[in-house]
Amino acid sequence: MEIRIQKTEPRDFLTIENITRETFWNLFKPGCDEHLVLHKLRKSNGYIPGLDIVAISENRIIGHMISTKANVTDAQNKEKQVLCVGPISVLPAFQMSGIGAKLLNESIAIAKELGYPGMILFGHPEYYHRFGFVNAQNYGITTKEGMNFEPFMALELYPNALANVSGKFYEDKAFETNEGELQEFEKLFPKKEKGKPKIDINH
Ligand SMILES: CC(C)(COP(=O)(O)OP(=O)(O)OC[C@H]1O[C@@H](n2cnc3c(N)ncnc32)[C@H](O)[C@@H]1OP(=O)(O)O)[C@@H](O)C(=O)NCCC(=O)NCCS
Repeated sequence: MEIRIQKTEPRDFLTIENITRETFWNLFKPGCDEHLVLHKLRKSNGYIPGLDIVAISENRIIGHMISTKANVTDAQNKEKQVLCVGPISVLPAFQMSGIGAKLLNESIAIAKELGYPGMILFGHPEYYHRFGFVNAQNYGITTKEGMNFEPFMALELYPNALANVSGKFYEDKAFETNEGELQEFEKLFPKKEKGKPKIDINH
């Protein structure tokens, strides 16, 4: 299967939001809000068009990945800009055939070119370690609540790039959604039944 990775075209925004919805639906909770997060990220100051990319097979979009501006703030309130990775989606029928890896490798290459020091994400450690992501604790970076755990990971984009970046990680406000805006946004999409989540993120 030939896969092309390219920048997202604004005319495809809604199609891709639907792909995100299809991918995350009933995955971590009944329904999902990742498609709304993506929609809000695209309207935010943290949006970077070059890091909004898609995977295409036979002229059809089958995967997507976005990284946006985020901050690490130290104890003296000094902010350093980094990237927050996600959501990343590969349509279920196309998973496990290297498309996620292609999206990640391309995003990492673009982020390096743009000169960002690091990328930070919450995800499955077994998957992201292969791209060089490690527990963010290694760089003295915690969540905004001051926590560290294996799924909270950072990738240094050039040698010692994160040496002077430590403190609390603040992602874009777009990641906060509420039930009211989600219900309103859902009206744009085909109706889907909510069900029991496939993955229990608490275990
Ligand atoms: C996670 C995701 C983007 C990976 O994309 P993909 O194209 O399926 O992955 P790839 O084909 O590049 O990689 C497959 C490898 O990753 C591993 N992998 C994929 N998803 C994984 C997961 N959720 N947890 C652990 N390992 C995973 C596979 O075991 C496989 O390992 P192998 O190469 O040793 O056999 C895709 O599965 C997806 O969209 N999942 C649902 C949404 C999601 O969880 N997004 C990320 C939120 S953190």
